[in-house]
Amino acid sequence: MKTEYVDLRDGKDVKEGLYKAAEIIKTGGLVAFPTETVYGLGANGLDENAVPKIYEAKGRPSDNPLILHISEFDEIENIVKEIPDVAFVLADEFWPGPLTMVFKKSDIVPYRTTGGLESVAVRMPSNKIARELIKTAGVPVAAPSANSSGRPSPTKADHVLSDLDGKIDMVIDGGTVDIGLESTIVDVTGEVPVILRPGFITEEMLSEAIGRVKTDDAVKNLSPDKDLKPKAPGMKYRHYAPQGKMTIYKGKPEKVVKIINEETAKSEGKKTAVLATDETKRYYKADIVISVGSREDSESIAHNLFDTLRSFDDMGAEIIFSEGFDESRLGFAIMNRLHKSAGYNIVNV
Ligand code: TXA
Ligand code: MG
Repeated sequence: MKTEYVDLRDGKDVKEGLYKAAEIIKTGGLVAFPTETVYGLGANGLDENAVPKIYEAKGRPSDNPLILHISEFDEIENIVKEIPDVAFVLADEFWPGPLTMVFKKSDIVPYRTTGGLESVAVRMPSNKIARELIKTAGVPVAAPSANSSGRPSPTKADHVLSDLDGKIDMVIDGGTVDIGLESTIVDVTGEVPVILRPGFITEEMLSEAIGRVKTDDAVKNLSPDKDLKPKAPGMKYRHYAPQGKMTIYKGKPEKVVKIINEETAKSEGKKTAVLATDETKRYYKADIVISVGSREDSESIAHNLFDTLRSFDDMGAEIIFSEGFDESRLGFAIMNRLHKSAGYNIVNV
């Protein structure tokens, strides 16, 4: 199939573009669109014939459930069985925005959307194009990140095309996304809300809004314990992995620079790359050195992380050395993604 590219970056012809996109979704097709977190690959989440196309285009395991995206709060009533009190508080505080909540699903939500689960994940994005598209389509839009399964999530329309060109009906270009990491997922079905995937909205922010909140044990330890199974099925898969062999070096930046340079020297004959920071970039001697942002600004690191990992692939990096980052607050979500990218290859220096 030919993938139609619609450029809405300049804010012109938005109505027309979104109308076309909404028609595709209503008639069972696939549209990739920007959200404030990462690009999503959308289909009608209540259409049992449309949803499998998402899994096929991405090469996604069928037990990995999708998030339903809504544009207004009252759209949630059709798709969940009940709305716990904490969910009202969290929606009030963080919707529209980078928070996904897991509820008990209603009967109209197909098991194909929930990967066979009795629960359903719901998010109201804040990105204008995303919200307007959902509203115009008039259905809850099932949308995973718009990457091929296993690759870093897309933060630009180019990333989507590089993975899915020819496999989906349309991509809407809304420019580079704002946050760059996928939404925080919180399960609100139990007594105490549980964070299943860390994101821009941190445990501290959630707990300030609702008091007690836990992080899934299998996610709390940045390196997995083989006896603990993550409660978000997608968290168990290898993800965000660049093609080169990647190792994270954690420790004092001066020490990390020294060791990475020693390792680079030992890797002669292979194309080496370093995921560096503004503070350290000039000290490295590898073939490719990219700064992911400033150590003083974790939001910049979140914003650039996936693009940097994709650049390593584009430039043919065979061995990738990455610095580690502070693991508090947003840093926890950054390191959660980075650990997966490196296949949990970590060296403490
Ligand atoms: O920011 C985001 O959340 C982006 C944008 C497009 O909205 N979407 C996204 O979707 O990251 P995806 O499919 O790449 O990741 C969804 C995660 C997976 O780990 C999945 O297993 C988990 O959410 N999930 C979905 N439904 C669930 C459920 N009912 N219970 C537990 N985990 C669920
Ligand atoms: Mg994903």
